[in-house]
Amino acid sequence: LKAIILAGGFGTRLRPLSCTRPKQLFPIANRPLLDWILEGLSKSGVTEVILAVNYMADVLQRYFGNYRYEMKIMYSRETKPLGTGGPIKNAEKILKADGKFFILNGDVLTNIQYSNLEKNHAKYRKKYNSTLTITLYEVEDPSRFGVVEIGPTNRIYRFVEKPKLGEEPSKLINAGAYLTEPEIIDYIPSDKCSIERDVFPSLAQKGKMYGFKHEGLWIDIGKPDDFVKANFSVMDIIAKDKPKIGIDTQLSSGVKIIPPAIVGNEVKVGQGTHIGPYVTIGDNVSIGNGCKISHSILFNNSWVDSYSSINGAIVGEGAVVGQWVKIENNCILGDYAVISDNVTFTKGVSVCPSKEVGESILEPKQVM
Ligand code: GDD
Ligand code: MG
Repeated sequence: LKAIILAGGFGTRLRPLSCTRPKQLFPIANRPLLDWILEGLSKSGVTEVILAVNYMADVLQRYFGNYRYEMKIMYSRETKPLGTGGPIKNAEKILKADGKFFILNGDVLTNIQYSNLEKNHAKYRKKYNSTLTITLYEVEDPSRFGVVEIGPTNRIYRFVEKPKLGEEPSKLINAGAYLTEPEIIDYIPSDKCSIERDVFPSLAQKGKMYGFKHEGLWIDIGKPDDFVKANFSVMDIIAKDKPKIGIDTQLSSGVKIIPPAIVGNEVKVGQGTHIGPYVTIGDNVSIGNGCKISHSILFNNSWVDSYSSINGAIVGEGAVVGQWVKIENNCILGDYAVISDNVTFTKGVSVCPSKEVGESILEPKQVM
């Protein structure tokens, strides 16, 4: 079975961290999001994956190569962004060759059982000659997503992408994982288009679309707070009662690690530093003495000097935080940002990659 993963978006809402990496490489428990997705597909019997790439395509291709989790990985490159529908048409030749295939959004952390999606699709295909089965997930606020109206046989009557607040047909949203027959390609109206706006509404109207409900883990990491939430959820699963500590990591005397927490490989932590709860520290990170870090994510190779506190923040790769620094509430440091000694960021400060900041900032601000 084949799968095509849409992995070409710009990740605009994840700036400044997406200025230097595609969404698919954002770390979830110290492992790129796309690794989690690929592993899930492999477990469900997929043998070939096409990555539809555009933004930072080379970085993705270099990282994932041509073979991973016992699956062949291929790349379908776009010379300009083709949206969420165009990439399917663009890869038509490979996809049409042997029957049905999965289509996945590449920015979702989930434990969807793809083999169950396939089983459900086979059932609807046989009974109703349907074209596509869409995975659905129930959320409190569906307005940021694609939303469906579903009937008793799980037929989708209506699909509305990003409905206005109060006009959502239900709380069941498009979870971004479909199993489809190759005939879907005949419904794609142009080389660049949106599968949600230009294909699904007409498929639904023709009675060709059915739903498969997923209950369990599901988070679209498209915004910083959701990216953080995705990490917290995995910490709750794999490091809840006991912190997970990597190899060759050195914890000095008096270090306290409060679970859930994940500490990577070759990390150095100085005397008396407290880490956790809800902290993920990447590989090769250095943290000084007497620091306090909670509810935060520190990417690989970052540095935090002594007596600093980080609470509710994201520290990008290779970023450097001086002594007696305080970084709080939804602040984000881009990769290789440098924060001088004694600086305080109270909330919502986001610092562009490689930018040096020498003064405190006490209100939400983007530092370019
Ligand atoms: N190859 C390629 N080319 N991929 C793209 C492009 C493009 O031009 N544009 C977006 N993508 C990829 C993104 O990288 C992402 O993995 C996926 O397509 C979905 O795009 P988003 O921009 O993240 O869309 P969204 O999150 O606002 O909405 C989509 O996902 C929701 C669930 O997470 C829609 O499918 C909604 O209906 C859905 O509910
Ligand atoms: Mg998304």
